Amino acid sequence: MIIPFNKPYASKNEEPYVLEALRSGKHCGNQSFCNRVIDLMKKNHEFHEVFLTPSGTAALEMGAVLAGITHGDEVILPSYTFSSTVNAIVLFGATPVFCEVDPKTMNIDPAKIEQLISPKTKMIIPIDYAGVSCEIEQIMDIATKHNLIVMQDCAQSYGSYYKDKACGTQAHLAAFSFHETKNYNAGEGGALVVNIPEWVERAHFLQEKGTDRRLVLKGVKSKYSWVDVGSSYLLSDILAAMLLSQLESESEITKNRSLITEAYFNLFKNYNKVHFFQVPDYVVLNHHAFWVVFDTVANQELFLTKLKVKNVYAYIGYLPLHSSEKGKTYGYKASDLPITEEYASKLVRLPFYTELSENGLDYCIQSMTEVLNEIY
Ligand SMILES: Cc1ncc(COP(=O)(O)O)c(C=O)c1O
Repeated sequence: MIIPFNKPYASKNEEPYVLEALRSGKHCGNQSFCNRVIDLMKKNHEFHEVFLTPSGTAALEMGAVLAGITHGDEVILPSYTFSSTVNAIVLFGATPVFCEVDPKTMNIDPAKIEQLISPKTKMIIPIDYAGVSCEIEQIMDIATKHNLIVMQDCAQSYGSYYKDKACGTQAHLAAFSFHETKNYNAGEGGALVVNIPEWVERAHFLQEKGTDRRLVLKGVKSKYSWVDVGSSYLLSDILAAMLLSQLESESEITKNRSLITEAYFNLFKNYNKVHFFQVPDYVVLNHHAFWVVFDTVANQELFLTKLKVKNVYAYIGYLPLHSSEKGKTYGYKASDLPITEEYASKLVRLPFYTELSENGLDYCIQSMTEVLNEIY
């Protein structure tokens, strides 16, 4: 049996919906399926306004433009994240200021944010690693006190909650990913949530290449023209059709994935030399991923290699940004963020995909048990 690291999931209606979208004669962005996805997202999770984008990366970039990120600004974010989080602001000339993580969640440590704030700081971008919400309430308090914008990178946390509020509802801006590796898959896709009502109209212009095409679609104007900067931050209606089917299956997908979290928790609680993530009791999980941190790099490598022999594919986590080739050009060295460096070097992400709960989970747990018993 082969257990891949990830496998895209198909729910019930992808095929009929995609066929309907193909036959509709309207394949571009903001057509019928896009509108159905947006309505569903707002109804289920109470986002203020939603813009479907070609990827989570594009959503972060659109958010940076909307927030007015520009040359000379500083943006505080964790080093333990994907390159897209940082590129979204570096592309527009801002400087990243990397913050340490809390090893309980590998999310940004809110206690270490304030000491990084300078007169140039404009934004904070926390991420929700493995679908576990960052400490968004504390982060919003810091932002309010210092008049900063918060864009939450929710690439992994669609359907997770923080104190009964869906991830992405409390920050000024939030970016979701619907890449095939995420719980809800459009192939490639994303969404920018805009929770500041005054920013919504401009977001429509930015999304539509800097034009007021939306006003034409609404019948307010007869011709559209160039009104602002912008780009093409639109998701095709064909991909939105696929996404709609996935989002309509949210409860079934979450339930299946919760069985995987449970099985991994039950396994790893028996090995006290392996640290695994803690979910604060006010966080509800979307069961995106599961990670563990080994006691030594040698044991991490042994675990990965021995599992591979059994055709079970686990993977390392992010390589810290501050000590990457590009990160060093901002003057960072590995020892600047020792917690991030240490935990990232020993972290493993376990195979995690919706179908695993029905097919392969027993083999996966059995293989891991054998490997862990050989190591410890
Ligand atoms: C934290 C984070 N931000 C952004 C992204 C980018 O999302 P996408 O692949 O949809 O562009 C990812 C992708 O894995 C991610 O993990």
